[in-house]
Amino acid sequence: MSVTQSGSATYSGELEGSNAKRGLWSSRLAFILAATGSAVGLGNIWKFPYVTGENGGGAFVLVYLLCIAIVGIPIMMAEVMIGRRGGHSPVNSLRAITQRDGLKPAWKLIGAVGVLAGFLILSFYSVIGGWAISYVGTTASGQLAGQSADAVGAIFSGLLSSPATLLAWHTLFMALVMVVVARGVRAGLERAVSILMPALFVLLLIVVGYAMTTGYFGQAAAFLFQPDFSKLTTSGILVALGHAFFTLSLGMAVMMAYGSYLPKNISIAKTSITVSVIDTGVALLAGLAIFPIVFANGLEPGAGPGLIFQTLPLAFGQMPMGSLFGTLFFVLLIFAAWTSGISLLEPIVEWLEEKKGMNRVVSTLGAGFVCWALGIASILSLNLWADFDPLGFVPMLEGKTIFDLLDFFTANILLPLGGLLVALFAGWVMSRKAMENELALSPAMFNLWFVIVRFVTPVAVAVVFIYNLL
Ligand code: PFF
Repeated sequence: MSVTQSGSATYSGELEGSNAKRGLWSSRLAFILAATGSAVGLGNIWKFPYVTGENGGGAFVLVYLLCIAIVGIPIMMAEVMIGRRGGHSPVNSLRAITQRDGLKPAWKLIGAVGVLAGFLILSFYSVIGGWAISYVGTTASGQLAGQSADAVGAIFSGLLSSPATLLAWHTLFMALVMVVVARGVRAGLERAVSILMPALFVLLLIVVGYAMTTGYFGQAAAFLFQPDFSKLTTSGILVALGHAFFTLSLGMAVMMAYGSYLPKNISIAKTSITVSVIDTGVALLAGLAIFPIVFANGLEPGAGPGLIFQTLPLAFGQMPMGSLFGTLFFVLLIFAAWTSGISLLEPIVEWLEEKKGMNRVVSTLGAGFVCWALGIASILSLNLWADFDPLGFVPMLEGKTIFDLLDFFTANILLPLGGLLVALFAGWVMSRKAMENELALSPAMFNLWFVIVRFVTPVAVAVVFIYNLL
């Protein structure tokens, strides 16, 4: 078990020793597994390939990688550091730090952004998790064997056109998330992640291996890694930045919550870099698995959110033992989505427990129900409401369904905003001594990090926002 003692601490006002009372991760590896479990999810395998396809490939990937390195890793370090320093759930950690250092309590807002983002993201995340569940049956039944791209596309459209089916799988996914969160013990989760994540990696490698045999691997690699800046738009830059936050689970205080369990003697920088490198590796592998299949079958790279569900089934239909590998792949995808889903619901439940004094089961049921109900709007925007364009009068948002808007607003606005607040808090508000102490970096490395969170991140996020607004 990752947390040696279940951590629903009551806020006691003092900082010292608060971590110890809540129980710590059993090791550095335990923290890395939990944080990786949160980071690696649908964002890597479902979203990265399709946003890359929609935004023209290489140049977008380059900007995304820069965002991970220059914005993502420093913000992850800041979040983990604030969490460990505060030693409580995000809202209470921020309150503890601000009270102790005589700062404005308004910084608790970061925790509130996290709670709102958690609700909104989980509502549609669970719908996509439901797609993955549905595809376990599709692959296991063998109906994909030898199918054409058109037939595979028709299976996917069939799924999207049925609100009742989508609702059933969405309900099952939410239930899976709620069961784990309600029990309040992450028992088994850590062990599950330590087996399932490497397994997912191996399966991705198998699909990449198959993709190499299609004869289009070189074209796919060029698409992903040869930047063509004429294809890069300002909105593409915003999407790359937003996706960096989304994929690393940043900007909504999840890493802050996890950091509060990290033992003091463990390097925040090394662990943050490890998690980010694993996360990026999984995304790039997913890209290398999917794009050769896209090109080999004359599919459209910019096909949108359905991309992996229209390409991977083709690969599984054609490769030897494809039903077996396909089933395994979607099961692992569900697990990756599940661990991320848990990390989306956990902060909301912790907040309800601490703030509203509700017990864990009631708060899980309440928060889970709200996410589930919100998810219905995303389900309907895939079929009955597909033409409903609620914010069509805003040029940038024209043609976006409720589902698209939720995705856009959370990943591209809310998370970077949360990240901006974290950067401002660390860069301008928190005591430098405390941060030096927590991060324990060499003076040169500390200064590099400090300049980034103080100037680079806030300016980068602000510039991207302003450009897109104009
Ligand atoms: N990082 C997850 C993914 O890539 O699928 C999604 C996510 C989880 C975003 C938790 C934000 C979060 F707090």
